Amino acid sequence: MTTHVISDADYAVVSDALVRMAGLVFDVSRRGAISAILHERMSKTGQSSIGSYLAHVESLSGSAERQQLLDAVTIQETHFFRNLPQIEALRSDVLPELVRRARSSGRPLTIWSAGCSTGEEPYTLAMLLVQLFAESGPVPVKIIGTDVSAAALDVARAGVYSGRTIKLAEPGAVDRWFDDRHDGSFSVARPVRDLVEFRLQNLVTDEPPFNTGEVDLVVCRNVTIYFGRETTTRLVRDFHRLLTMGGYLLLGHAETLWQISEQFSLLPVGEAFVYRKDAVPQNGRRPEMPRPAAPPAPAPQPRRVMRDVLRVPSLRPKRHTEPSAPPPRRALPAPMEDLIKARDALNAGHYAEAASLAERATAAHPLLVEGYIIEGRALSNQGDDDGAIASLRKAVFLDPSAAHAHFLLATTLARVGDPYGASLSFASAAETLPAASTETLSELLDGRAVSDLVDLCRQLAVTMNADPETTVGAGAASRDDGRRTQ
Ligand SMILES: C[S@@+](CC[C@H](N)C(=O)[O-])C[C@H]1O[C@@H](n2cnc3c(N)ncnc32)[C@H](O)[C@@H]1O
Repeated sequence: MTTHVISDADYAVVSDALVRMAGLVFDVSRRGAISAILHERMSKTGQSSIGSYLAHVESLSGSAERQQLLDAVTIQETHFFRNLPQIEALRSDVLPELVRRARSSGRPLTIWSAGCSTGEEPYTLAMLLVQLFAESGPVPVKIIGTDVSAAALDVARAGVYSGRTIKLAEPGAVDRWFDDRHDGSFSVARPVRDLVEFRLQNLVTDEPPFNTGEVDLVVCRNVTIYFGRETTTRLVRDFHRLLTMGGYLLLGHAETLWQISEQFSLLPVGEAFVYRKDAVPQNGRRPEMPRPAAPPAPAPQPRRVMRDVLRVPSLRPKRHTEPSAPPPRRALPAPMEDLIKARDALNAGHYAEAASLAERATAAHPLLVEGYIIEGRALSNQGDDDGAIASLRKAVFLDPSAAHAHFLLATTLARVGDPYGASLSFASAAETLPAASTETLSELLDGRAVSDLVDLCRQLAVTMNADPETTVGAGAASRDDGRRTQ
């Protein structure tokens, strides 16, 4: 079958319609896939032009076809226990705190998995809660998964899974949380299913299924990557309104509130970052995550507790600001000294030393972007791709303009066999490289012009993964859990 790729003008019209219908912004890499979907839908509905098809889809009588189109264009990539650093943060800190809070307030613990796709995300949350309830007793809980795709929700409600999504669950999860159907598929166990409810909801055009201040935790991961900034800003404002005070928001590893919202505090929890709705800005203070009064907590591991809380605008590391008069000689703060030594060690090829110094610097100062970049480069040079990916992800999360980190992350993801992740990171590198200082890029450029590197990144973004579904179908594992897939 020949694929007839739609014209620039038609693609622009379709793109506008998708933004109106669901906030979806697709770049040129999706043009082939979107063209194929449109031709198929037009032939099924007997529409002869893209204009008449879209007019039908957006009319009052076109709601069924609109649903078909949205089912087809949305990307439902997901799996159980996705993003292990976040899963650990939920397990060790966020959910225990919320359960304690629900117990003392008598309110049901309310969780929203917004853009839940085929259900793995809310079921994973339910699994974590059932485990927690076994240890500390149950509380009433409401987990609602919503999505714009009716087809994805059908799968979610059926709760039967096989293949890749099951393989990517954490070790032991299949035996513990699924019933074997003995045909290669597994159904989610009843106690987990009973905690989760699914609803069809468009995050852009429909009212959210919650009241103001009702939600304790919003998990909205890998959804706003398809939205434009305005849509995301509006959505995040809604999340803030719906969250209870002290409630949490989790985004995907490639998503941040940088330049989107200043309403949340950002907290590192172990290897992950979470956003929290706080009553008062907490600039410069260092509150711990609320903990029960007794028993006294054991001495915390350096990177396993929330240590800093900064308002989002403070995230970007301070650029060098030259003082007008020479400053008095003063010892550098320890993390800065470690950072400088780490950079020297990296340049000298002493990678183990560089990695451990950079790790010490970021442990003391969890928002030190350059520390994560140095750590990532050092680990990568030692052949520890998993470690490098984890560090570089933190760097781009904290500073989405860190072009160098995007590029290194892209090449590392490509090397470990995650073309989908690599494609996203190459696209981010292409976007951020032009604004980066050539000084920070000299090693990458190696004599080439920035524009050459940008072109290369653009090409790789498209060719690595022109159509993410292909990656899923081919059984490749998404690497946003920061671990190697077995
Ligand atoms: C890549 S999946 C993410 C699934 C899950 N949150 C995760 O991280 O594994 C993105 C999901 O967002 C949904 N989505 C996209 N636009 C949406 C909208 N306007 N309203 C609700 N859901 C939307 C898609 O249907 C898809 O299921």
